[in-house]
Amino acid sequence: MPSNTAAYLLGPKLPLEVRPAPYHSPEDDEIVIKNGAIAINPADPIVQSTGAEMFQLKYPDVVGEDVAGEVCEIGSNVTRFKTGDRVFGMGLWMGKPGYKGAAFQAYTVLKETMAAPIPASMSYESAAVFPLGMCSSGGGLFGKEYLALDYPSLTPKPNGKTLLVYSGSSSLGSNAIQLAVAAGYEVITTASPKNFDLCKKLGASQVFDYNSSTIAEDLIAAFKGKVSAGAIAIGSMFAEGNGASAAEVCLRVAKESEGAKFVAMAMQFPEEKIPEGVIAKWIMEDVHSSGVGKMLFEFLPEALAQNKYKVAPEPLVVGKGLENLQAGIDAVMKGVSAKKIVVTM
Ligand SMILES: NC(=O)c1ccc[n+]([C@@H]2O[C@H](COP(=O)([O-])OP(=O)(O)OC[C@H]3O[C@@H](n4cnc5c(N)ncnc54)[C@H](OP(=O)(O)O)[C@@H]3O)[C@@H](O)[C@H]2O)c1
Repeated sequence: MPSNTAAYLLGPKLPLEVRPAPYHSPEDDEIVIKNGAIAINPADPIVQSTGAEMFQLKYPDVVGEDVAGEVCEIGSNVTRFKTGDRVFGMGLWMGKPGYKGAAFQAYTVLKETMAAPIPASMSYESAAVFPLGMCSSGGGLFGKEYLALDYPSLTPKPNGKTLLVYSGSSSLGSNAIQLAVAAGYEVITTASPKNFDLCKKLGASQVFDYNSSTIAEDLIAAFKGKVSAGAIAIGSMFAEGNGASAAEVCLRVAKESEGAKFVAMAMQFPEEKIPEGVIAKWIMEDVHSSGVGKMLFEFLPEALAQNKYKVAPEPLVVGKGLENLQAGIDAVMKGVSAKKIVVTM
């Protein structure tokens, strides 16, 4: 049995500490991967600073979501993978004691349905950028309790509807644009001007500067004459109220546009501020149980293989080894623009 190590959270606000950790063998529907790259998400510094209660941590605990690496063991019912395959996937750790699905360790256990093969030409650090960004935006876009959009396809047919993706250069936003376009929707998005070209390359038809004082009016004008599919409000963990302006603008646009008056929110938002006639819901889709995760992990490798999906945000490697995960968390805390912070192993 391989010897495992993990970067432990020992208490709220304490830096990660690398220590020996138990190695977990897979259950019937699981695989174990030896991590080659681990990506960091805004959730990770939030978990580190807010800790136990909100995220059901049991110190010492191990967290992290995004991994890419080599399959080293498979469960008895696994048919999609064999040992030696290069895969990426989303670790399920939240509220699951035993942290076997956490990313911040040398070996991570993944559900077979929450992983996908990596195209031969793609590096582990590129593949590690997708899982949480894709699954969180996918939950908001395709979850039946959320925007319930049509599923993505390799041969999309325009369906005449337009989606607002607020924060198109973010990890969630880059995935939301690509997934919605692959599902046949027109996408209007927001970003800083330096990322307009990127958003267009990802498939957005129009991009607006969210720093403009007229952003709401600009978007309302852009939706005139269109049928809205709703909005996904992403924003930033650094914006006041964790993306309050993203939420407020999306709610205004949804209220004043024809079509779906639904905003999938990547943040909590006060109920009393939601305008009448609009539904807004914090994205909490359990993509593993609902099947949205399985759909996404089946779609993405095909789309990547056919060059119909781009690596976005691009990885920014900040170091090698579990010891550098704390530097990765610190880099996310400083804020990134169209980049995913990654540590290689
Ligand atoms: N289930 C969930 O609800 C869920 C899951 C995962 C993440 N989240 C939350 O979703 C948010 C985005 O996560 P992520 O991983 O996609 O973030 P990220 O990639 O780290 O976000 C960076 C991007 O945020 C954009 N940005 C900065 N300030 C902004 C503002 N005031 N309004 C709009 N965009 C702004 C920047 O765009 P420019 O550089 O173009 O300015 C930058 O490209 C975070 O708050 C995270 O906590 C929620």
